[in-house]
Formats: sequence, C-alpha cells, structure tokens
Amino acid sequence: MNDTLRTIDRRTSLRRYKDTPVTEEHSNILLESAMRAPTAGNMMLYSILVIRDQETKDILSQTCDHQPFIAKAPLVLVFLADMQRWFDYYRMSQVEEFCVRTGLDFRGPNLGDLFISISDALIAAQNVVIAAESLGIGSCYIGDIMENYETHRELFGLPAYAFPVAMLCLGYYPDGYEPRIRSRFAQEYVVFQEKYRTLDEEELVKMFAETEAAFPCPNKYGAENAAQLMFARKTGADFSKEMHRSIQEAMENWQGRPPTTKRKAT
Ligand SMILES: Cc1cc2nc3c(=O)[nH]c(=O)nc-3n(C[C@H](O)[C@H](O)[C@H](O)COP(=O)(O)O)c2cc1C
Repeated sequence: MNDTLRTIDRRTSLRRYKDTPVTEEHSNILLESAMRAPTAGNMMLYSILVIRDQETKDILSQTCDHQPFIAKAPLVLVFLADMQRWFDYYRMSQVEEFCVRTGLDFRGPNLGDLFISISDALIAAQNVVIAAESLGIGSCYIGDIMENYETHRELFGLPAYAFPVAMLCLGYYPDGYEPRIRSRFAQEYVVFQEKYRTLDEEELVKMFAETEAAFPCPNKYGAENAAQLMFARKTGADFSKEMHRSIQEAMENWQGRPPTTKRKAT
C-alpha cells in the first residue's frame, strides 16, 4: 500500500474533534483540493460555503436532524450544487437572444443540470475528505443539509439555482483517538461484471448475515430483524420524510423554466 491508499483505507467518519481551529493554511489546502477535483466540462457547477460562525453551526446542529456534534466541529463546509453563476453569465451574455437568432431552444436550469452539478459538488467534497485525512483532520458528511430547504436558503442567502447537497464537519483528531473501521458489504454484492444482477433471497441472506448477527433485539422500535430496524431508523424515519419534502420544494426551481419566468421568491 502507498500513502494515498492507506489514507483511503484508514478513513472513518469523525464526530468528535480536538478543540482547536483548523489553521488557515490547512483550510486553504482543503479548499484548493476541492477545486482540483474533476468537474463536468470544467464548469465547476458547485459553490462551497465556509462556516465558522458559532451561531450558524448551532442552527445547523438543529436543522440537520438535531446532531449536537455539528455545533462542535471547528470547520463546517457546505457544498452547493450551483447553476446560478452560469445562468447569470448566460443572461448577461444575451444567450437567450442568441438562441432566438440561431434556432436553439433556450431553457432554464433543469434536472439534468441539477444532477450533474450534484456530481460536481460531491466529487469536490470527497477530495476534501481525503485531503483532510492526509493532514490529520477528520471529517463527517451530513446528508441532512438537504432537509429544511427554506430555512437553509434563508440562513445562507441562497439564490434559486444553488442547492445544498452535502455538508462536511471537519476538525483535528482528538488526542489518543482510536478510529473504528466499519465493515462494508462483500464486493460480490455490490460490484457486477458488465451487467447488473438482481440479488436473490439466498444472496440477500448472506449479504446481511453480519448485520443480522449484530442486530440488537429487543429494541425501542419493536423491530424483529435488521431490515425492520433500518427502515424504522432511516428510510421510514421523520428526517427522511422531511428530506423528501424539502427536496421537492427545492426542485420547483429546476424544471427547465427560463430564469426570467416569475416564480416563488427565494
Ligand atoms: C451522504 C452521506 C450522508 C451522511 N450523513 C450523516 C449524518 O447526517 N450524520 C452522521 O453522523 N453521519 C453521516 N454520514 C456518515 C455515515 O454514517 C458513515 O459514512 C457510515 O456510517 C460509514 O462509516 P465510516 O464513514 O466511518 O466508514 C453520512 C455519510 C454520507 C456519505
């Protein structure tokens, strides 16, 4: 193994941080690493919000499914899927008139733009995770940043075509911290050669054997197996319903309607 592979292999999510700010030098390295990530068409369809303000972190620790450790992270980065810059640039450069003149269909940001900008934002975020790890800075993604869209739009002053798709909590490892490497499903259930393969019940039993063996019973959800527990804790949980609602609200802006069309104030 080389150093890069060791960094990838030993990374775990860190939810407890040394009570020390991330240095300016390290913060800059993390942001530069994000910006070196591959990006569709080199358009950099993302923005990064650097959050150090305690009040903002306190709010995020509530709005992101009540996770107190967010408030204690020395550095928080929010990754936005962002088409706003490009559509502002298109507008100032008379792209709509150009389309009329040349017979191209003009349109506003659509779901394709959203997904490709989400790809850009997440790839940039993961570059930060690996760069951070190599500097002794641990990280934890917060998917709940996709909840409470209206509150986050207000909090960050987001324009219509910038959607917060991921958040990273970052901070130095506490002294003496022993990372717990969490196991993954076996490769045969996740990686397929050439064509997709739907797993049959026998394979699902094998795939989840370790999870079922560690399944805590009894539990507060009344779940009788790990699948029931996982549904109660994740897929069917309130935060998941809120995420669905919040994303649906944000998606209003990504239906391909030209930006000049009047729509809900942002
Ligand atoms: C998209 C995404 C969202 C996540 N959201 C949260 C979160 O809101 N809170 C949290 O504590 N961990 C969150 N995590 C971290 C995962 O729980 C963690 O990656 C997973 O349990 C595997 O553990 P490991 O990263 O230590 O290997 C998230 C990870 C990803 C990739």
